Parts: sequence; C-alpha cells; structure tokens
Amino acid sequence: MTTPKKLFIKTYGCQMNVYDSERMAEALGGEGYVETKDAEEADMILLNTCHIREKAAEKVYSELGRIKPLKERNPDLKIGVAGCVAQAEGEEIMRRQPAVDLVVGPQSYHRLPEMEARLREGKKALDTDFPEEDKFDELKARPKAKRAPSAFLTVQEGCDKFCAFCVVPYTRGAEVSRPVSRILEEARALIDRGVREITLLGQNVNAYHGQGADGSEKSLADLIWALSDVDGLERLRFTTSHPNDMQDDLIEAHRDCPKLMPYLHLPVQSGSDKILKRMNRSHTADSYLRLIERIRAARPDILLSGDFIVGFPEETEEDFQATLDLIREVNYGYAYSFKYSTRPGTPAAERAQVDAAEADDRLQRIQALITQQQQAIQQAMVGRDLNVLIEKPGKFDGQMVGKSEYLHAVHIDECKAQIGDILPVRIVEAKRNSLAAVSR
Ligand code: SAH
Ligand code: SF4
Ligand code: F3S
Repeated sequence: MTTPKKLFIKTYGCQMNVYDSERMAEALGGEGYVETKDAEEADMILLNTCHIREKAAEKVYSELGRIKPLKERNPDLKIGVAGCVAQAEGEEIMRRQPAVDLVVGPQSYHRLPEMEARLREGKKALDTDFPEEDKFDELKARPKAKRAPSAFLTVQEGCDKFCAFCVVPYTRGAEVSRPVSRILEEARALIDRGVREITLLGQNVNAYHGQGADGSEKSLADLIWALSDVDGLERLRFTTSHPNDMQDDLIEAHRDCPKLMPYLHLPVQSGSDKILKRMNRSHTADSYLRLIERIRAARPDILLSGDFIVGFPEETEEDFQATLDLIREVNYGYAYSFKYSTRPGTPAAERAQVDAAEADDRLQRIQALITQQQQAIQQAMVGRDLNVLIEKPGKFDGQMVGKSEYLHAVHIDECKAQIGDILPVRIVEAKRNSLAAVSR
C-alpha cells in the first residue's frame, strides 16, 4: 500500500467556507489524501479564501508568502487557492504568486480530483466556471466516521440582491436552492454519524425555494418542517437571512416548531434610510423594526443578531446616530460590525469615501454599544434553566462545554454528560464570552 498523501486546508470567511472545506477534503479523500493539521508535512495545501473585505483578501497573499518556502523542502508540495478570492481574482493569483499551482472557484469543487491529476503531471490547474451541473450532486458522499454533534449543511448558495458594497453575488453567483430530497438525505447521513444539530446555510438562506418530492417549490419553512420529522435530529438553525425574505410561514415556524432554535441572524447594515437606499437594501429602518416586532410576537424569547457597516460612502454623523438608535431599539444578543471596505467592481467602490479616522471612530462607538447589549443579555441568562448541547471537553478536568438554545457557549464543571447529549442546566454565572452552569 502506498502511504496516503497529506492535505492541509486553511479556511477563511463564512460558515459556507467551513462546509465547503469539509466537502473538498472528502473529494480529495477519494484521491488518497488524508487531512493533516500540520502544513509542514502536507503534500497539498489549500487556502479556502474570503473576499468580503480588503483585509480578508490580502491575508491570503501574506499566507502564500509564508507557505512558499515549504516547496524548497518538499518539491512535490502543491499549493491551491479556493473560495471567493479564487473566484474574484482567478489567474491573477498565479501571476502575483507563481508558487500557486491550482486556483478553483466555489462552484467547481467537484472537479478537484481531475484538477489534482493535472498537477501530478506537472501542470497548473485553473477553474473559475459557473458550471451547469450541480457540484453538490457530483461531490462524493460524506464518509461514515463519527463527527461533532453540530454540523453545517448548505441548502442555498449565491445571491441576487446586489447590495452596493458586497462581492458575494459576483464570487458565488446567482441564487440556487438544492432540492429537499438531497438535503434530507444528507441530514440523515449526518445524524448516522452522531450529529444532533444542523445549521442550514445560505448567503440568503430564507430565500430558499428548492424543489420538493412532489415537484413543487418549497420554502425554507417547509424544509424546516420536513427536517423536523427526521428522527435523531434535535435542533435546527439557519443563517444568513435577509429582512425582505422573512415570510410569514418562517415566522410561524419560529412559533410552532420545537426543534427550531430561538435565534435569528437578521442583518440590517444601517439604521439610516438614506444609507439603506444607497446600499440597495430595499428595506427601511422602520420596515425592519416592524418585522422584528412580528417575529418577537411569534417567539418572544428569540435572540437576535445582526451585521452593521459603518463609514459607508456619504454616511454622516446623523446617519450613524440613526444606526445607534436602531441598535438601542432592537437590543441584539450578538452583533457584528465592520468598517466599510471598498471592493473593486461593486457600485459603492466608485463613490466618495468617508474619512478613515472618522470611520474608525464610529466603529469604536458602535462596538462599545453592541458589547454593552451583549453583556447585559448574557447577564440576564443567570438563574435561567436552559438546555445545552454538549460539544466537547472544557479546559479543566471534568468540565464540558456546549451551546444553549440561544447559541451562548456554556461550560459545566463536574459534568457527567457525554458529547452529543442535551443536558438540562441552570445558568449560575455570566463570564465575558461564556456562561457557567450546573446540571439540574
Ligand atoms: N449574506 C449575508 C452576509 C454577507 S457578508 C447578508 O446578506 O447579510 C457578511 C457581512 O459582511 C455583511 O452582512 C456585511 O455587514 C459585511 N460586509 C459585506 N461587504 C462588506 C464591505 N464591502 N465592507 C465591510 N463589510 C462588508
Ligand atoms: Fe451580499 Fe447579503 Fe447583500 Fe447578498 S444580501 S449582496 S450576500 S450583503
Ligand atoms: Fe467571504 Fe465568500 Fe463567505 S466572500 S463571507 S467566503 S461567501
């Protein structure tokens, strides 16, 4: 038997990339690769990249610079770039860093085995097509090995929204939904391997409209109900949603479906109608707030999270204040804020930019407010009885850690529960980034 070749994958960006990296490892597993955590012993290094902000994209080139010398020690080492930088920059990557052997866009991962064969012939390989065939159908099934109790499952990919700041519609292409039957099949296979919680992924997941077994189009809520009938699956989540696609049946599922967790990531980006319009978001601050009211009427304890961009072109102090007002009104359990980053090829890149020091200052102020809200919500969990999906051993002997319904990390000392158990606990303390609990 030949010794297996070693594959090292480094993943940047969103959860969809985490899912894709797993699938790439499986596709190359069929070609005799096993994964390693040590880049120095790898025969192939793949960077699964993110193009969302300039910093994210630049990281890739500095990482490539660090990896390149490994080729001197192992002349057979192949270096590949996958993900959204691969899609956006294509051949340019090989020009900028000639040590790169392979560039593969997110819609072509099922072609990796063929591409790998080319590399072994001493050639380079590039594929940034948006092929007709569905990569998910072509990718090999997951192997049977046991895995962590919480898994991602991509159900929808791409985006047709074209927010003026965003590269995703260009790097991931048009919106596509996978058929219900394929998702159910994949979910059952995950459950056989020990999974109890599935997070359904899509850049615009609540716009899901996949084909059902009867040939008709199904909504995300329909899909959630179908998955909730699968034995052994205990928890469902989904991300990321767009406010404009938050249909009534999905809000009702948050009220009626016990397996759907009370957590919703619903980015709004800004609280100023002028800026929202220029972002091409096609909702207003008020329509968003009214939507939140309806969601909270259906599921009063739901924990909301959001994304914000500060320093978008033409954002004034007044616009920024409107964003802070909206945050105060919603009260987020989690929120992620970013300084606007100019992305070549997007409409906003051409516009007059906000002064960098001013944008930095706004970022600090928004983050202070968000942190304050997050801490208060975490603090309010103390004394509550929650259920924790146990994910792994903690830092200390006898300690286990997992996630509450609300996605808070929870650690339990002297814990007898096993990985994959759902343990009833009482929260006893809120720490900076996690909650402490005792079993009840
Ligand atoms: N599909 C999701 C997530 C897109 S990317 C959605 O529609 O919400 C994740 C977040 O990155 C976005 O919500 C946005 O807040 C941020 N982002 C996207 N483009 C950006 C840019 N050019 N500069 C700064 N932040 C950006
Ligand atoms: Fe980007 Fe999300 Fe807007 Fe689509 S909806 S363009 S992914 S921010
Ligand atoms: Fe980044 Fe691509 Fe995800 S740009 S955020 S890896 S879809």
